[in-house]
Amino acid sequence: MTDTTTTRRPAATDVDPMIDVRALDVAFGSTTVLHGVDLRLERGRTVGIVGESGSGKSTLAKVLVGTVKPAAGSVTVDGVDLGSAHRSALHAARRRIQMIPQDPYSSLSPRRTVAQTLAEAIDPIRPRVATHEDLISGWLERVGLSPDMMHRYPHEFSGGQRQRIAIARGLVIDPHLVIADEITSALDVSVQAQILELLAGIKESLGLTMVFISHNLAVVQRVSDEVVVLYQGEVVESGPVEQIYADPQHWYTRRLLDADPGSARFSLTG
Ligand SMILES: Nc1ncnc2c1ncn2[C@@H]1O[C@H](COP(=O)(O)OP(=O)(O)OP(=O)(O)O)[C@@H](O)[C@H]1O
Ligand SMILES: [Mg+2]
Repeated sequence: MTDTTTTRRPAATDVDPMIDVRALDVAFGSTTVLHGVDLRLERGRTVGIVGESGSGKSTLAKVLVGTVKPAAGSVTVDGVDLGSAHRSALHAARRRIQMIPQDPYSSLSPRRTVAQTLAEAIDPIRPRVATHEDLISGWLERVGLSPDMMHRYPHEFSGGQRQRIAIARGLVIDPHLVIADEITSALDVSVQAQILELLAGIKESLGLTMVFISHNLAVVQRVSDEVVVLYQGEVVESGPVEQIYADPQHWYTRRLLDADPGSARFSLTG
């Protein structure tokens, strides 16, 4: 392939993490939704965020993409302090952070072909399919779709295929950071595993830096290097995924693992 997306990123360094969140508080009105959250992610690594519904996972993701403002604390993403950066720096930073959405049915425009959707991601000002055809074909192949499907519309695809298209759209611009929020939860269980394998493979070959959000611990384990456990808006445990799954320290982490047969098996054998 001739595109540049296969380029590996520089090795992780301690001085320049992709994400550096410190003492983050987020409130909606008088309700505190995140409290004292610290999150650090080196380049080339994936952190899984787990926690039950309402624990604040999506809110944390929205803080990282800049759509939710902190009440307190500091948020630095890809070298940009989101609290103090100027508008143009924020705009540039946001483009380098790609969110892969949860719902493959509502996230793709029904009036655009797959090629038009990807061309628009590549160049929102002048979205020309012909100019980017090689890149678009290459990405469709990489996500397991045939390049000759590029002129079809979303309704001609299954949910799993649409999620492959959404992944291609998120990754085609070679983002510095990928945020995947429950990207398999709207899919059939059998399809979930395929999408997960696809993402895990791409992650390894490209050295993606990713925040992977799921309430399913087995799913998180498949793609993450580290895990952060959120409980009622606070981080109750964090660390390398093997360590946390094999030897959870917090009762809430244990409860999540016990409630999740896939990862509980791991904790017995691992
Ligand atoms: N825009 C908002 N206004 C008010 N409250 C909100 C808003 N967004 C989220 N919340 C509240 O913040 C808390 C955390 O929500 P969030 O969506 O981050 O949870 P989550 O962990 O992603 O849950 P789920 O697993 O269901 O997606 C919840 O109590 C939610 O009701
Ligand atoms: Mg959520």
